[in-house]
Amino acid sequence: MSALTFLSEFFRNWKTVGAIAPSSPALAARMMESAEVWRAERVLELGPGTGALTQGIADVMPAAARYLGIELSEPFVYKLRQRFPQMQFEQGAAQEFGFDSVLGEDAAIDVIISGLPWTAFPESLQEAILDHVLPRLAPGGRFATFAYWGLHQLPAGRRFRALLHDRLPGVETTRVVWGNMPPAFVYVARKS
Ligand SMILES: C[S@@+](CC[C@H](N)C(=O)[O-])C[C@H]1O[C@@H](n2cnc3c(N)ncnc32)[C@H](O)[C@@H]1O
Repeated sequence: MSALTFLSEFFRNWKTVGAIAPSSPALAARMMESAEVWRAERVLELGPGTGALTQGIADVMPAAARYLGIELSEPFVYKLRQRFPQMQFEQGAAQEFGFDSVLGEDAAIDVIISGLPWTAFPESLQEAILDHVLPRLAPGGRFATFAYWGLHQLPAGRRFRALLHDRLPGVETTRVVWGNMPPAFVYVARKS
């Protein structure tokens, strides 16, 4: 069901969905491990889609941790709320979401998991999102996102990596998850 929902939303909004299939459980597990979600108190997910990474978060996040997912697509938000009734999803754009009203002023986030299709975005949007969300990351907090292998070498992919590196020096890359469709790896960065 989630693969069908995902594909139909891709045909309606291919520029923002940016992928034809949800992430695999193996990629979700690589993201969780890289970002050490198991020891987070506050987790923010950008672009949860149909919940492929959200399931990974739910599986390892401490029971007392707070989760917030920001998703642009209304149909996806509707499905997410049904699938994960214990988690909080808000419909909105990551680059302008009002975190203060939901999390409280100055509330710092330990882990940001992003499923956003960075290579489909213009540089101005890549920058706007990073500059809106990264200031909310706590010192020592982790930011993890995935990139499709091969697409990371395109200009938009290189630009994203450079923008991320400018803001969080020391970005690391994991091994490629070949079983994902398409194959993907994780960028993980830590705020000093
Ligand atoms: C590549 S899909 C990833 C979905 C899911 N995280 C996964 O890994 O299977 C990208 C998701 O980001 C959402 N999205 C795109 N631009 C967004 C934005 N500016 N703010 C919030 N969500 C956005 C899309 O609607 C879509 O659900």
